[in-house]
Amino acid sequence: MKVSQNASLKSYNTFGIDVKAKTLISVRSIGELVSVLKKNYAEDLFILGGGSNMLLTQNVDATVVHIDIKGVEVIRETEEFVFVKANAGENWHEFVLYTLQQNWGGLENLSLIPGNVGTSPIQNIGAYGVELKDHFISCDAIDIQTLEIINFTAEECEFDYRNSIFKNKAKGKYIITNVIFKLRKTNHTLLTNYGAINEALNEMGVADPSIRDISKAVIKIRQQKLPDPKELGNSGSFFKNPVITEKEFEILKNQFPEIPNYPVGQNSVKIPAGWLIDKAGLKGYREGDAGVHKNQALVLVNYGEATGEEILDLAHKVQAEIRAKFKIHLEPEVNII
Ligand code: EPU
Repeated sequence: MKVSQNASLKSYNTFGIDVKAKTLISVRSIGELVSVLKKNYAEDLFILGGGSNMLLTQNVDATVVHIDIKGVEVIRETEEFVFVKANAGENWHEFVLYTLQQNWGGLENLSLIPGNVGTSPIQNIGAYGVELKDHFISCDAIDIQTLEIINFTAEECEFDYRNSIFKNKAKGKYIITNVIFKLRKTNHTLLTNYGAINEALNEMGVADPSIRDISKAVIKIRQQKLPDPKELGNSGSFFKNPVITEKEFEILKNQFPEIPNYPVGQNSVKIPAGWLIDKAGLKGYREGDAGVHKNQALVLVNYGEATGEEILDLAHKVQAEIRAKFKIHLEPEVNII
């Protein structure tokens, strides 16, 4: 266990915001986590995973517990499937690459998503037609109050678009310690139709792709569009793609016939927030060190020394412009602290 006082969180959040934690504790095992939970009252705890989905706007006047529990283990296998358990502190992308090296299929479209395994169920991470829930069996989580370990099945997690029970009813109550995935050993299902995957495979000269080729194509696309947090601080999509009613959509379509849209259920339509922000002329917009990314308007970036408040001011400006131009409310996807 590593404990430091008045510690900078700059290298613990992908936005690279330099705020301080009253106390920072890195735990490497369940035992260490339990002993920290026993010592600290729940209200004085702030749980930190990969720090890839948060905007820190102030110093954290609490004990920050960094979940650094590593380990990957096969728990069951059949001819066709493997059930693999990954501990919460495993880096998501490294875990995906590991599964692909074993020729286990399922997570290839989710390559290069920042963050850790333990936080992946919280917002049901998704990309290129695949969501975490598609390959999720269950996760273990510690109840912060009772210290009991509870197993959540996929159904109990109440997964939805960028959402789960851990963002709603169970918010702040549990710490996820591991996740079990069901992956395919043979007869891989390749999802290449979403986004530019087919195009990227063509450019790579691959006609008969393997799961590793799909991963390479996804990495190529993400690297072209999305900034690498190691080079330019960011938290991926800053906003969710808004869902509007069919009626609202018809009005917008008259005004903007080219508007991209994806039907959701019977009477709703999802609109890419990136398109809205781009159309509002904000792509590449910059205020000091806070900016809207030049290649993907959905991503807000920190050019170096931006504070969390400056990024938040920019987010508010983006929301106001989108409301004025399209009468749509953009909801942040990242957690604002
Ligand atoms: N678009 C623009 N301008 C932009 C950005 C996008 O016109 O600056 C248009 C695109 O041309 C396209 C549409 O908007 O027609 C959708 O764009 P894209 O396919 O890039 O997907 P997205 O809706 O912007 C979502 C996820 C991403 C995920 C991609 C790929 C959300 C909020 N974001 O982005 O997730 O990687 O699909 O599946 O659902 C993340 O969560 O951090 C993230 C990056």
